[in-house]
Amino acid sequence: MNLAAAIVRQSSREQPADRQLRWTLKDRPELDPAELRQVARTVFAYYRWLGWLNANVPLPRQVREAAEHQERFNKNPALFPPKKLEQLAIPEWVRDHLEVTPAWLRSLQTEPRLWLRARPGHADNVCFRLVNCEPFNPKLLPDTLLFTGEQDLFKTPEFQAGEFELQDLNSQLVGLICNPAPGQKWWDACAGEGGKLMHLSDLMKNQGLIWASDRSVSRLEKLKQRAARGRVYNYQVAAWDGGLKLPTRTHFDGVLIDAPCSGVGTWHRNPQARWTTTPQDVQELSAIQIRLLMHSARAVKPGGRLVYAVCTLTRAETNDVVAAFNRQMPEFRPLPLANPLTPEKPPNSVHWLWPQKHGSNGMFIASWTRTKPAAQPAVQPGL
Ligand SMILES: C[S@@+](CC[C@H](N)C(=O)[O-])C[C@H]1O[C@@H](n2cnc3c(N)ncnc32)[C@H](O)[C@@H]1O
Repeated sequence: MNLAAAIVRQSSREQPADRQLRWTLKDRPELDPAELRQVARTVFAYYRWLGWLNANVPLPRQVREAAEHQERFNKNPALFPPKKLEQLAIPEWVRDHLEVTPAWLRSLQTEPRLWLRARPGHADNVCFRLVNCEPFNPKLLPDTLLFTGEQDLFKTPEFQAGEFELQDLNSQLVGLICNPAPGQKWWDACAGEGGKLMHLSDLMKNQGLIWASDRSVSRLEKLKQRAARGRVYNYQVAAWDGGLKLPTRTHFDGVLIDAPCSGVGTWHRNPQARWTTTPQDVQELSAIQIRLLMHSARAVKPGGRLVYAVCTLTRAETNDVVAAFNRQMPEFRPLPLANPLTPEKPPNSVHWLWPQKHGSNGMFIASWTRTKPAAQPAVQPGL
């Protein structure tokens, strides 16, 4: 409890708790994986139940009380009525920005599930080798696994050999909805550390080419290490900050904008962010998202597809971005695509993936296709 309280004490908007956890716990040989995980669970419980805590009592006691709330909720969520959750589990401003439902509020207080994506052909072996790992929906998503064990996955031989990736279910759906074909050219324009790039490459059977760009060069360095571990070779890295000058003149079969966002869809996994994110962040990010979409869209070839994904559910970062893009880019039309988890439903050009459905991150995905070549330049001054 004291270690968890010390981490909470050091955490802030600038020094988020998940980063503090990584730093503090990385050199603790006296703690086994189960104990390390327990410290992390306690820190996250503190932020999940912060609204219920009395700030005037010593921090270790608040942390213990938060852990007790989490235990009570895990056993019986009905003890926490929706009205109370709405008052205490989220800041007030959120109600103006998205549809707050009892199911979503309950999902926010639920401890996250750990999702894995087995690399092609490795699902059976990974399930067999990792203790407490099972397929989620072998018929529809044969590579998606749920891990409920305690071991440090990064140290397993299967991870080191690139047999699986840690990737949330709905992030996996982004790649599957993009559905790139072997031999195509794609641009992963906010590639970060390469989670979706690895998936796109697997779907392309390592054939064709993916341009991977990001404004963060250090993230791109991590992407290279990850790709090397997974023996992914069909990519090319280039820094890009979202500006008018694109990193290449290539016209792509597909462009994925996995945009920076407020992360509201991850607030069960990263509950501290509820208390550090502001409505101004949402507005600023919405403007950045529109700019990234408008600029990168110029690289989509006629007949190619443009996919926008964010792990948030605020109107400003979802519907408003789509509406702004539709207004300004008439040479694109919304492209209905199928969600592989709901093949019985008609394809749609927007997908709302709420976290309460399967205990995964909330995501929003929109897709378009280019119907005619761009009028140059396709971007208004000032964007
Ligand atoms: C949601 S993350 C991407 C995650 C990544 N696609 C994955 O699957 O692992 C968003 C990324 O956008 C990058 N980013 C933020 N602002 C940007 C900008 N103006 N231009 C380009 N990339 C930006 C961030 O560095 C971050 O890596």
